[in-house]
Amino acid sequence: MPDTPSIPPVPARSRTVLVTGATGNLGRELLARLHARPAAVRRLDRRPVGPRPGVESVRGDLTDGGSVRAALDGVDTVFLIWPLLDTAPAGPLIAELAAAAPRVVYLSSTAIDDDAVRQSDPIVQVHADMERLLRDAGLRPTVLRSDTLASNTLGWAAQLRAGDVVRGPDTARTAVVDEGDVAAAAVEVLLRRGDDADRTPYLLTGPEPLGRADQVAILGAALGRELRFEPVPADAARARMLADGRPERLVDALVTASLRRPESRLVTDHVERLTGMPARSFAQWAVGHGAEFGRRP
Ligand SMILES: NC(=O)c1ccc[n+]([C@@H]2O[C@H](COP(=O)([O-])OP(=O)(O)OC[C@H]3O[C@@H](n4cnc5c(N)ncnc54)[C@H](OP(=O)(O)O)[C@@H]3O)[C@@H](O)[C@H]2O)c1
Repeated sequence: MPDTPSIPPVPARSRTVLVTGATGNLGRELLARLHARPAAVRRLDRRPVGPRPGVESVRGDLTDGGSVRAALDGVDTVFLIWPLLDTAPAGPLIAELAAAAPRVVYLSSTAIDDDAVRQSDPIVQVHADMERLLRDAGLRPTVLRSDTLASNTLGWAAQLRAGDVVRGPDTARTAVVDEGDVAAAAVEVLLRRGDDADRTPYLLTGPEPLGRADQVAILGAALGRELRFEPVPADAARARMLADGRPERLVDALVTASLRRPESRLVTDHVERLTGMPARSFAQWAVGHGAEFGRRP
């Protein structure tokens, strides 16, 4: 496991941080935590959002270079996600970042295998390619590689309102991480700076590897229900996701990931080293999110 880079604290002067993906599961947690800190926060939004105290919203799209240029004006640090399934549309973004040269903190994936020529699946490949594109553009990004976010299980909420079984493609065990912990770690990295900080990725994991069946059982305990996971063969899972109206390319990427992504035993203390608090368990996450799965107060 690579060493965690040590980052000296910076003076508590106000700095402008541009947050991408602010409406997402991770981005909402990040915004809430940045709010309490001495930072000027700007968010890049595809759609207008209502006014939020202390946060400026700029309309833009990660694939539209002109909007990125406008959003970067006066920005010191960028929290960057790349939510698309290929990097071809990232050219204008990378060019604007290279021209403005802010500090870039990129949210990547612990599933990257640094020794592999090709990654296990298209989603991991995109993250490996983005890391390389940012480096090749001379940006020296600080990379936060995140394990599977616990919030992905919110996709089961509709099934769990209808019954006690979660059906879906099985996936290899991995140390699912609370998106709130990833956000808390990101805040610490965003608001500090160190010259030698940008070399080694942080590896943000939860405390233990879990499979889908483990997660469903843990959710059941939090909800006071007997729940079970029923793995669905790849073909059936694909058909179901397409019938649900999900884009074909995303469906294929998810199915490929479920088939090819290897089991991971990686568990790190990087969340704790960055935030001072140990990574929370999936059981703690489940208790905190019961209402989103229909738990009555
Ligand atoms: N989920 C995981 O397990 C995991 C693990 C490792 C890394 N990651 C990375 O973390 C990112 C955030 O995860 P999440 O669960 O918070 O995702 P999410 O809930 O799906 O949110 C995605 C965000 O990206 C924004 N977005 C999508 N296309 C955009 C575009 N063309 N221009 C600007 N913004 C755009 C969305 O904005 P709108 O509201 O406009 O749609 C939304 O704010 C992922 O995209 C992935 O790259 C995720």
